[in-house]
Amino acid sequence: MNRKPIFAANWKMNKGASETEDFVKSFLSKLQGQDFPCEIVIAPPFVSLPKLADLLHTATAVQNAHAIQIAAQNCSQFDAGAYTGEISVLMLREFFVHYVILGHSERRAIYGETDAVINAKIKKAREANLKPIFCIGETLAEREGGKLESVLRTQVTEGLKDISEKDLADIVIAYEPVWAIGTGVTATSQQAQDAHAFVRSLVAELYGQDAASRIRIQYGGSVKPNNAAELMACPDIDGALIGGAALEPQSFLEIIRNGSSQSEE
Ligand code: 13P
Repeated sequence: MNRKPIFAANWKMNKGASETEDFVKSFLSKLQGQDFPCEIVIAPPFVSLPKLADLLHTATAVQNAHAIQIAAQNCSQFDAGAYTGEISVLMLREFFVHYVILGHSERRAIYGETDAVINAKIKKAREANLKPIFCIGETLAEREGGKLESVLRTQVTEGLKDISEKDLADIVIAYEPVWAIGTGVTATSQQAQDAHAFVRSLVAELYGQDAASRIRIQYGGSVKPNNAAELMACPDIDGALIGGAALEPQSFLEIIRNGSSQSEE
């Protein structure tokens, strides 16, 4: 199965509008004349979405801008109304947002998002035709306690509950072991491959082999230019969700370059 790798920058709570502009201008000039066989996605904070949308979609003079898709880092599970501090899927659509990161471990751990909430958000995102980047992953204690597979099974099964096979086709899964996020400790390529293969087998149980072989599963957790190639060479790894190393245009580009050359093989 030929799955197009997807490299997504999750900027988390970094880069307001002016830093977004600086990054994008530099990144686009570096991207100039290069054509990578992958999708490139940037997920800035909400307040930087208008600037990013403007730079990528309305500034027609910008070359290569079409090569980059916009993601949000979260969305509400509700349509509209009395939800202070929340952002709806329709608001995101106004800024050419195509993807939305849901279920990130920081949302789960710091903001108490449950599998049920994440499931509701995935459904709401699909109603607006947004493509969820659905994050899963175990903590170190869970891995060391032999619970890796049961944790992933629960997250996948509950997160995708009542999601149709048609909607699944527009979902990307991001496997991000919590202990590898922002720590500089990357999963070994074997650990990552094993987890990805297991996640794909869970999707096969739920949706069948065809859907499982089509779904893209990104790896996230301390992905850097010097480990991207090895990780992306694994058969079940279809791109990366990158935090810290995607804050600099040059290192994001090097991850894409090193990683997408491997995925082609
Ligand atoms: P780091 O790449 O900084 O480890 O972050 C990974 C992540 O959480 C992406 O969503």
